[in-house]
Amino acid sequence: MARIIGGITTSHVPAIGRALAKELQQTPYWKPFFDGFLPVHDWLARNKPDIAVVFYNDHGLNFFLDKMPTFAIGAAAEYHNADEGWGLPELAPHQGDEDLSWHLIDALVEAEFDLTTCQEMLVDHAFALPLELLWPEGPCPVRTVPICINTVQFPLPSAARCYKLGQAVGRAIEAWESDARVVVIGTGGLSHQLEGERAGFINKEFDQMFMEKLVSDPLWATRYSIPDLVELTGTQGVELVMWLATRGALLGDVAKIHSNYHIPISNTAAGLMLMENA
Ligand code: DHB
Ligand code: FE
Repeated sequence: MARIIGGITTSHVPAIGRALAKELQQTPYWKPFFDGFLPVHDWLARNKPDIAVVFYNDHGLNFFLDKMPTFAIGAAAEYHNADEGWGLPELAPHQGDEDLSWHLIDALVEAEFDLTTCQEMLVDHAFALPLELLWPEGPCPVRTVPICINTVQFPLPSAARCYKLGQAVGRAIEAWESDARVVVIGTGGLSHQLEGERAGFINKEFDQMFMEKLVSDPLWATRYSIPDLVELTGTQGVELVMWLATRGALLGDVAKIHSNYHIPISNTAAGLMLMENA
């Protein structure tokens, strides 16, 4: 059976792509952020996953307001990145794992998560940049399965629902007849708001509690409604549901292997966490 070797959760911000392209990693602004990834690079080099299942939210590149699935999953041989208006370089396509995609689709629909299946899917900064952060040497050495959760157009799925989706994904991976080593990745959050009167809003106290509880009591954050999470973390802070989906996929107790928290990257409280099953 396939094995889930761990979970990695990180923020995604387009400015990271610019910093990577211009090699700004050692500048004072960026160093505390990029240095946070060094222990994760060591862990990946030692643990060598074959496949990454990536929870993220599309921001209007693949899905626009006219057609917005609550949950969508890729089932493609490769996923192309494209210009989404931030002036970032387009990255090389990411390899898919169609076998795991279709296994997940079968298992998730059976488990009453009716996802939109995408045999073509453009992936935006929320998918591509975290993979570039994790494997900066490139090209990305893992096959991927993107799972997209709507955090853009209301109504959004609840935090509790996203956690349960993650659990269903975790159970399905563990039931997959394969010797693949799978890492689960979640990208988004932590607190940030890009528009309106509260633009620039960050809630360090909540973020730090969220990171602590993600390990010890993941149901803690699932008790908040989406409007409460928007109030507490900002309109885009609600992307933290990707962290809950990732934690759900790890199924049992977990141990925190590494974390980093740095304010701000652009408008975002940048968090990073690496967890293994305890
Ligand atoms: C920023 C953060 C995001 O999550 C995003 O998708 C786009 C921009 C920012 O802080 O600039
Ligand atoms: Fe975002």
